[in-house]
Amino acid sequence: MNNKLNISNRLRTIGDFINSNDKVVDIGCDHALLDIYLYLYKTQYVIASDINDKPLKEALKNLQKYNLVDKIPLVLSSGLEKFKGNEFNTLVIAGMGGMTIIEILREGKNKLFNTKKMVIQSNRDIPKLRSFISKLGYKIEDEVLIKEKGIIYTVILFKKTKKKIKYNKTDILVGPILKNRKDTLFKEFINKEIEKRKKAYINIPKKYILKRINLKKEIRILKNVFN
Ligand SMILES: C[S@@+](CC[C@H](N)C(=O)[O-])C[C@H]1O[C@@H](n2cnc3c(N)ncnc32)[C@H](O)[C@@H]1O
Repeated sequence: MNNKLNISNRLRTIGDFINSNDKVVDIGCDHALLDIYLYLYKTQYVIASDINDKPLKEALKNLQKYNLVDKIPLVLSSGLEKFKGNEFNTLVIAGMGGMTIIEILREGKNKLFNTKKMVIQSNRDIPKLRSFISKLGYKIEDEVLIKEKGIIYTVILFKKTKKKIKYNKTDILVGPILKNRKDTLFKEFINKEIEKRKKAYINIPKKYILKRINLKKEIRILKNVFN
């Protein structure tokens, strides 16, 4: 292969949660670089899907470059709309807002019967994602932080479980695995989260009492993580 595959650390971190038994659908594949990485190094069962034509054209160009056009199917689909559920056992959804991911999973809920694993990466509403996906019957198996170009990303591995799982407020806000970290990246992440909430608190009009109380509570939880 002459074309050296250059993917970001964020995508590589997501990809490294995948192994050879996984039958992957990547929702919102965009350029499909992650899918090429997965096919070359992790699993040879990868379907790349996107809601828009334009990214899929870009994806096709990349597949041509790596000679993988007949190896990685490209599917034009809004979320799981064009899937039945038996084509995959692993979902990857990355680089989207948390609420969009929740919407995709809510709408595709009936197609998750075979999904044993999800790798999720979002920059927003991560606590809502933890809460929503765990209520679908998935436990948080692993979580990692990755810093790229000044942004700290959270990548979460969810695994299907039959056990009843109950996460507390710290688990949902910080992450049941991340909360035990002590390193500098984690401290930087927590400090950023506290600052974000302090700024939001100042800007929320006093009449929104509940929102203000909630922010205060979250700041307290975040500060307690270091104790
Ligand atoms: C910012 S890109 C992220 C690409 C890649 N997953 C990554 O992490 O680098 C988001 C992609 O998700 C696609 N997308 C947004 N909403 C979607 C949906 N409901 N179903 C499928 N794809 C969607 C967009 O068209 C876009 O290509």
